[in-house]
Amino acid sequence: MSRRNSLLSHTGPLFLLLLWLGGPVTGEVAQDFSHCLEFFYNKNPPTGVSSAEYQPICQRYKNQYHFASLYHREHRAPLYSAYTLSPADGRRPNATWKYEPQLSYSRACPEMKSFHIPVDQNVIESQAVLQDYRYSNFTKGHLNPSMHQKTKENREATFTLTNIVPQRAGSNSGPWNSLENEVLRKFKAFCQGPMYVITGAMPYISKTRWINNRVCVPEYMWSAYCCPLYRSDLPESVRQAFPAYAAVGRNDPNSGEEIVPVNMKVKATKRGYDVRQMPVETLEGILEQRLAAPIRLFDGLCQKNNTIL
Ligand SMILES: *[C@@H]1O[C@H](CO)[C@@H](O)[C@H](O)[C@H]1NC(C)=O
Ligand SMILES: *[C@@H]1O[C@H](CO)[C@@H](O)[C@H](O)[C@H]1NC(C)=O
Ligand SMILES: *[C@@H]1O[C@H](CO)[C@@H](O)[C@H](O)[C@H]1NC(C)=O
Repeated sequence: MSRRNSLLSHTGPLFLLLLWLGGPVTGEVAQDFSHCLEFFYNKNPPTGVSSAEYQPICQRYKNQYHFASLYHREHRAPLYSAYTLSPADGRRPNATWKYEPQLSYSRACPEMKSFHIPVDQNVIESQAVLQDYRYSNFTKGHLNPSMHQKTKENREATFTLTNIVPQRAGSNSGPWNSLENEVLRKFKAFCQGPMYVITGAMPYISKTRWINNRVCVPEYMWSAYCCPLYRSDLPESVRQAFPAYAAVGRNDPNSGEEIVPVNMKVKATKRGYDVRQMPVETLEGILEQRLAAPIRLFDGLCQKNNTIL
């Protein structure tokens, strides 16, 4: 037997075994986040969420990883995106919208791609497309917002529909936008090392709602950050917000007020989209109830790094 043949006969059975063990063996839409762990605190993705419906995606664009998302195939929307915050060094880009080829073909190129018209039927079946959002009365809400990303390429990479959920304009350009700006300000003023952010969507608890009968609408947005290394001279007003803090934002003015109360004094276009800030443990408790999963966002607990700079 030639050398080449003997190699084949040895790898063949292994290859079949890997296929049998569960699907794709190549590509970035893999079984886990092993190619993009740097976007998680202590290189540990959240624990407690486990379902065959969830698909980890290492978000790759222009041959580089930019962030990570956990995609829910049936919802055609991410549960969360995880990233390290780095203030934008320019404007919001004029980026084209992209999709994830590997959600349609497990062996496709491991990079997000711009939509082509007509959109391939396998793409339409496997994920959200721009048509889903058109006339839906929902905006395309970034989980990882482009202005939290440094370079032009980093920012362009956030324009993939696998980082997007249906978000009401009143939230997206109202209180949720203010929260994103506040987190950015806190990072600039107080963090002395990386800030790990995880931002996600919380579906309705009983009757799931959809746009275009295809993409799941979140009742709430949520976000948490972990900044282990921060200034020792924090002002009293932000002390409870370090090393970690979280928030939940309303995406439906008609929701009850148990999770986030409504301030009736805000102007009508933003009313009912309030954001409530809270400790990470409080958010984890709410998510645990909603998702029926004991989710832990930051490797158990985000802890202060006592290095003195
Ligand atoms: C953004 O790109 C579109 C399409 O390429 C173009 O029509 C538009 O003028 C651009 N806008 C800006 C502000 O560059
Ligand atoms: C969007 O809102 C308008 C005005 O309230 C309404 O007439 C229309 O049915 C809504 N469209 C969808 C898809 O819900
Ligand atoms: C704490 O921060 C220092 C300085 O950035 C870093 O070198 C060190 O690895 C950090 N320690 C931990 C436990 O993350």
